[in-house]
Formats: sequence, C-alpha cells, structure tokens
Amino acid sequence: MIISKSKSMMQSSFEKTLYRFMEIPKPIFSGDFGIYIHVPFCLSKCSFCPFYKELFSQKLKKQYLAAILKEIDDTDIQGKAKWLYFGGGTPNTLATKDIHGIVERIRSKVEINSMGVELLPALLTDEYLKELKAIGFTKISIGVESFSDEVLNKTGRKITTYDHVRQLIELAKSLGLWVNVDMMVGLPNQDANAFRQDITKIATILPDQITVYPFMVIRGLKAIPSSPCQEQFELIEEADEVLTRRCGYGRKGVWTFALGDDLYDSSRDELIEDYAGFGPSAFSTYGDWKVVNPELDVYVRNLENGRRMGFVAPKTKASDDWRKFARMLYDLKLDDTGSLPSYIKLFIWLLKLTGYIRQEMLTGKGRLFAHEITKTVVESLPFPVQNPGCVENYDEYISYKRAG
Ligand SMILES: C[S@@+](CC[C@H](N)C(=O)[O-])C[C@H]1O[C@@H](n2cnc3c(N)ncnc32)[C@H](O)[C@@H]1O
Repeated sequence: MIISKSKSMMQSSFEKTLYRFMEIPKPIFSGDFGIYIHVPFCLSKCSFCPFYKELFSQKLKKQYLAAILKEIDDTDIQGKAKWLYFGGGTPNTLATKDIHGIVERIRSKVEINSMGVELLPALLTDEYLKELKAIGFTKISIGVESFSDEVLNKTGRKITTYDHVRQLIELAKSLGLWVNVDMMVGLPNQDANAFRQDITKIATILPDQITVYPFMVIRGLKAIPSSPCQEQFELIEEADEVLTRRCGYGRKGVWTFALGDDLYDSSRDELIEDYAGFGPSAFSTYGDWKVVNPELDVYVRNLENGRRMGFVAPKTKASDDWRKFARMLYDLKLDDTGSLPSYIKLFIWLLKLTGYIRQEMLTGKGRLFAHEITKTVVESLPFPVQNPGCVENYDEYISYKRAG
C-alpha cells in the first residue's frame, strides 16, 4: 500500500515534466557545477540499454568531435568544475587523443577537480588505460554486466573473458585508477545461479566499487527481464551477504557496494548543483531550466549553423523534492530531511511508524521499498529523445530534423 502510493506520487510528479523543442536559454556555469560528456557511439547496440547511441563510424565521429568542441567553445563556463564524467554510449570508441582533445578544450576554460570515464571491457586495452591515466583520469567504470557468454550473447553485447577483466582491473589499480564495475541482475537468460556466479567472480577481483543494477525496462526497450522486481531485489540482498560479510565491502546505496568511502556516481550532484552536459542527448540544468540536447544529426547541424536548439523544461520544485527524497532512499539513510516539504516529511514519519526506517536508516523492508522506488524513478524519468510523450511540440522537432 505505502509502496504503491509513493510510486504513483513520484511517477506523476515526473510525468508532469513537459519539454519544448526550442532555442535553449543561454547556458552559464560558474560556482559549483559538474560536467557530463555524452559519447553517443557503440560497436553494437545492447538490447537492454536505453541510453541514446548510434553505431560507431569514423564519419560520424569526425562530425561529433567538431560539434562538441564548438559546443564547449560556445558555452560560458568559468571557475572550477567539481567533476567531469564521460558516459555513453561507449566513450572508449573514441581514441584517447580524441578524449584528450575534449578534456583540453574544457581545461582551457575551467579547472577540473576529478575525472571519470565509463568503459566497455571488450574494447579496452592496457595502452588505453595508461593513456587515460596520463590525461589525468582518476576514476573508471567498467561495464561487465555479466560473465556469462550465454547471457551477453543474447543481448548483442560484445563479450570478453573473466581473465581480461581481471587483468584490466589489476593494471588500472596499479596505475592508481579507482575502479567501479557495473553488474546487472535480471538480464534475459540470466537465472539466479548465473547471477550468483557473476557476483562470486567479480568479488575475487575486488574492484573499489561494485554497482548491481536490476534490469530496468525503460521506455522503448524490447528485452524482457528474466526475473521480477522483488526477485531481483532478493538476489541483490544475497550479493550483499557475499560482498559485505565476506569481502569487506560496505553497502553505500541500495545497489552500490564499495571498499572505502569514495564513490563513482555521475548523477549525485545533478539535483543540488548546476550540471553542464555536452554532446547529443546530454542533460544540463542551470538557472530555472532543464535542457536536453537533440540527437546527433540535429546536434551537429545546430552547431554547424551556430544555433542551439534543444528540449527545454522549467525546473519544478515538486519533482526536484521527490528526486531528493528518492536519492536519500537510495543512500539508505534519511538523516538530512530538513529541506524537504511537509508532505514528504509526513510520508517519512509514516515510514518510521510502519518499520521501514529505524534510527534514520532503512530496514530490510525499507531497502525493498528503496529498490522499488529507485526503479520507478529511473523508469519514469522523462527522456525527450526516446520519449515523444514528454515533448509538447515533438512534431516540430521531427520537421526540423527532416529539414536537415
Ligand atoms: C550508460 S550505460 C553503458 C556504458 C557502456 N556503453 C557500456 O556498455 O559499458 C552504464 C551502465 O548502465 C547500466 N544499464 C544500462 N541499461 C540498463 C537497464 N536497462 N537497466 C539497468 N541498468 C542499465 C549498465 O550496467 C551499464 O554499464
């Protein structure tokens, strides 16, 4: 009852976000902000992945690089960025000299405090890791997802071996890079035993952080999860037993386990601070606005013509408050609720009364609640590129796209 009520309240707060395709408000970033770079290329399209991507080609890469350097030049960013993350798509479809070029262009405007990048292991080499280190990266996130060929083959993902992953992580750690590994539960063909083996294997390598994502069916996806939401949660709880009791990890979030206090988390600050996104489909927030860039073809044309058309929505306090609350649930502790509105505080009081929260920490049933709420939040996030329903003038976007 509590779970279904809160899920529907959150869903409706996000579903109210309506974007308009228009000339974007002038982006200005100073003070505290983070930078996200979207690299929209993959070698193959994994059936489970909802993020915006195109199949890699040298021609598209050339267009992308010219456009993103221009986008950086045309954006008013000053001061010190708290962090810079490259995500995708697959950032390591770019050569390290391309990545270096983007980083240098940003460094010509701002200082960067820390840098991280998502990497596809099948395409990763020792040389690439050494070059990332030389550019100044301090954190990497490797998308292993599963060690089972049977599971990965079914998703269309490029596969790699346990030995290759192990050797990459050992090298990365010896270079002083901090390593997160993404694993998934509930992928097609991935039964409970396959997942248990995946966790046992990754635990033998001991990356600094392990994130276990339940397979979320985000709009537009055709793949079907192999297990329902609650079973995925129970398997993550089993992984907790292995990782925290036997391997020394701490539970840092409902899906996050880490060996120390540091975390790889590219979306943490998006709620509280300005967030500058570069690249097609990248998300930014500044002033009173949320802005999302268009797909690659429109993005490239925009920058060639000196225009900045994108999807724009006003920030709303209600959806930001619900996201802050969802973030606290994800972190499994509710010790800083002072800034939340009274209707969410009342809700938290109810959660305490019914045993979901004890001494500001989520209990076992509280963790199941956090798992379900986080899935709902992610599954209902309005992504304008993939979801025409959240763009009030999507037809104008399509006409603009076709006019190219
Ligand atoms: C931006 S994605 C992909 C990064 C990179 N292209 C790769 O494949 O390794 C980052 C992570 O999101 C997770 N992810 C992708 N699709 C998901 C889905 N439908 N549900 C849950 N997690 C997902 C995966 O664990 C993936 O490593």
